[in-house]
Amino acid sequence: MNFEYSEEQLMIKKTARDYAQRELFKDVIERDANAIYPTQHIKNIAQLGFFGMLINPEYGGVGVDNISYVLALEEVSKADSSVAVIMSVHNSLAAYGIETFGSKDQKEKYLPQMASGEKIGAFLLSEPDAGSDASFQKTSAIDKGDHYVLNGIKNWITSANSGSVYIVIAQTWPEKANKGINAFIVDRHSKGISLGPHEDKMGMRSSDTHSVMFNDVIVPKENRIGEDGFGFKFAMKMLEGGRIGISAQALGIADGAYELALKYSKGRKTFGTEIINHQAIAFKLAEMAAEIEAARLLVHKAAWLKDNHQSYGTASAIAKLVATDVAMRVTTEAVQIHGGYGYVKEYHVERFMREAKLTQIYEGTSEIQKMIISRAISKDC
Ligand code: CAA
Repeated sequence: MNFEYSEEQLMIKKTARDYAQRELFKDVIERDANAIYPTQHIKNIAQLGFFGMLINPEYGGVGVDNISYVLALEEVSKADSSVAVIMSVHNSLAAYGIETFGSKDQKEKYLPQMASGEKIGAFLLSEPDAGSDASFQKTSAIDKGDHYVLNGIKNWITSANSGSVYIVIAQTWPEKANKGINAFIVDRHSKGISLGPHEDKMGMRSSDTHSVMFNDVIVPKENRIGEDGFGFKFAMKMLEGGRIGISAQALGIADGAYELALKYSKGRKTFGTEIINHQAIAFKLAEMAAEIEAARLLVHKAAWLKDNHQSYGTASAIAKLVATDVAMRVTTEAVQIHGGYGYVKEYHVERFMREAKLTQIYEGTSEIQKMIISRAISKDC
């Protein structure tokens, strides 16, 4: 076992930290309050290579390992989780999907512009009646020979407006249930696509989230990913990696709130001493530090398994379950340590708490992670 990071991993972490702390942090409160999409920041982090992290250099990406990717996501999340979720969905679910299961033509056509950040990816799986029960797809993709025709509604779609490469999951053969589902690469500007209103979210308010309507949208056959009927397994495989990204995001949120609480506790005085000298506060901070460290080991282990081509589905579910719960507890305690100051926007920790909540919900709720883990351990008996 090796707990040391390589020079390259540390350099990527530093690059992400420098940008996040210097640039993202300074205007995050305004973006969050007014739900402003981080257009310029997305361009800037694209220049750092953060949109091509999992894309092979052959297609213009930087092709770093998953540990580096996770370290970058953690640092970005310590400043602005809206930027982190755009980055995570793009890298883990859209670009990695095309990179891993796309045809050579699909890779050549889409990956270079995705790697440069010119085109942002979105992942359209969820529907009004297919959230946790992902195989209950009602969006139809009717096979018309040389093309498919898509009809239906997707919801809670990250980067629905700003993204331009949609990965759409839809049902072609309902009689085959999950084995009739396909995945497609769809141009967001295709005729027949329209968006619902911007969702006014509790947290991660500056990533753009909409529902997406498909009305007789024509998709060429060559845009299907993989064999006919591969779509559900494709979506599940993508989510295995996506959950590593979200667990890294949760870890960053927890660590960001912890760093602020620690700093505050060394400056704020009550009863004649800095509050860190009160055991009530010191023990909270000790628990926060211990839980973050435990979560980090799980998140990095899941990333390591992926880097080493070992099965990582259960490990990513465990990492997501634990890291997102840690994020919720740590951010809540960070607010508590700040007292009244923690409840106002200026001190950031209330935002971290709102952001933490979403990590327990998207890319599979905590309850779904428990389903995945319990099914895996029951197979071991
Ligand atoms: N890899 C490969 N294949 C898999 C798989 C995996 N990880 N998981 C399941 N499968 C296969 C199974 O082997 C099975 O295949 P066979 O029939 O050939 O044996 C088939 O898929 C069906 O599997 P299940 O019976 O386990 O499927 P299920 O209907 O019980 O659902 C589930 C399983 C894990 C609960 C799944 O529905 C799920 O993950 N739900 C949550 C959905 C989710 O995470 N949504 C997030 C939306 S995206 C998002 O949030 C992005 C964003 O914008 C932030």
